[in-house]
Amino acid sequence: MTNKHNTCGFSTRAIHHGYDPKDHHGALVPPIYLSATFAFPTVEYGAACFAGEASGHFYTRISNPTLALLESRMATLENGEAAVAFSSGMGAIAATFWTLLRPGDEVIVSQTLYGCTFALLHHGIGEFGIKVRHVDLTDLAALQAALSPATRMIYCETPANPNLRLIDIAAVARLAHQQPNVTLVVDNTYCTPYLQRPLELGADVVVHSATKYLSGHGDITAGIAVSNQALAQRIRLQGLKDLTGAVMSPQDASLLMRGLKTLALRMDRHCSNAQALAEALQAHPAVESVIYPGLRSFPQYELATRQMKLPGGMIAFELKGGIETGRRFMNALQLFTRAVSLGDAESLAQHPASMTHSTYTPEQRAQHGISEGLVRLSVGLEDVADLLADVHQALAKCGRNTVRQAATAPSAVR
Ligand SMILES: Cc1ncc(COP(=O)(O)O)c(C=O)c1O
Repeated sequence: MTNKHNTCGFSTRAIHHGYDPKDHHGALVPPIYLSATFAFPTVEYGAACFAGEASGHFYTRISNPTLALLESRMATLENGEAAVAFSSGMGAIAATFWTLLRPGDEVIVSQTLYGCTFALLHHGIGEFGIKVRHVDLTDLAALQAALSPATRMIYCETPANPNLRLIDIAAVARLAHQQPNVTLVVDNTYCTPYLQRPLELGADVVVHSATKYLSGHGDITAGIAVSNQALAQRIRLQGLKDLTGAVMSPQDASLLMRGLKTLALRMDRHCSNAQALAEALQAHPAVESVIYPGLRSFPQYELATRQMKLPGGMIAFELKGGIETGRRFMNALQLFTRAVSLGDAESLAQHPASMTHSTYTPEQRAQHGISEGLVRLSVGLEDVADLLADVHQALAKCGRNTVRQAATAPSAVR
């Protein structure tokens, strides 16, 4: 694999890293290797592959040339040594947990997490003798007090889904590494490596739902874990190969590499569109509060500017009148699509309490800072004037009962 672009900028590496057309009959786009299995020249070579003594591909659940190219691109973009590709973000997260944690261990996790990660912790690994402790990681004294000799992992999302709370990665990494054998794992889905690189700030593993901004077009589910060689190899050989089997398909790896080529361009546009929408929402009399890291009113504005290149494409907000008004607002949207997921070209609106975070009980949501009335917007790549017009017309209507009208004509204007 050619790595002659190692010293190039972010987009150049996203487009070229690890690939030279002259090694592939001049093909501009890397070929997709569909083969599930690979021929051994000799039995001895096959045995060496299985023993980890030879580096050839032998079975796609463990490695494949198309996946290997994608993995090397994700590793360089996150500034890690190696990456492992998965069939979904939850595949990457589950494989990382199952690889690095054993019964009797403790994992410290931040207060707010994506709903299925929360469910995996509480209804998955938490039921297999691993102690899960939620700690407010913005409070370093609380983290210091929570660390124990049994702590093996600290896990967080920053910004958190859905309330955008930030964690100071460098500060948490310093505390984590005062103790041996503590791994800091950061879910970087909301930012992508274009906006934030946790490994450079001291994290040990980065995980992604690559279903979102990394692929960017809403047409695959995918996950990635990035780390140093040793940890990535453990995650591959235990978490991927044996514990989950959640391997990405080579076709999806090709689509994901296509997405990476435009990642920087898309993220710039997601961010500028979101900034304009957040400011418009904040100025509107129907709006109770807006959470967006690019607003000066954002409680962690200083940390956002220090840790993230730009504030991202996600907005959370509440309307006066709470969830009933929020529902009317969402049902009145005509250009935004009512759908979960995020990071697509299309702008999306959803209600975390009844959708992505319905894995929490109402009491748990209150405890973890997820308000029942919160509306989450994933701001897409459309023309900002059209997005602003849609939000304004929906805000104008949400005082009135538009539910029936929206149910019969959903998202008519696209
Ligand atoms: C922050 C975050 N992490 C992980 C996931 C899980 O990813 P996937 O849906 O690709 O399994 C999601 C999905 O929405 C997410 O928002």
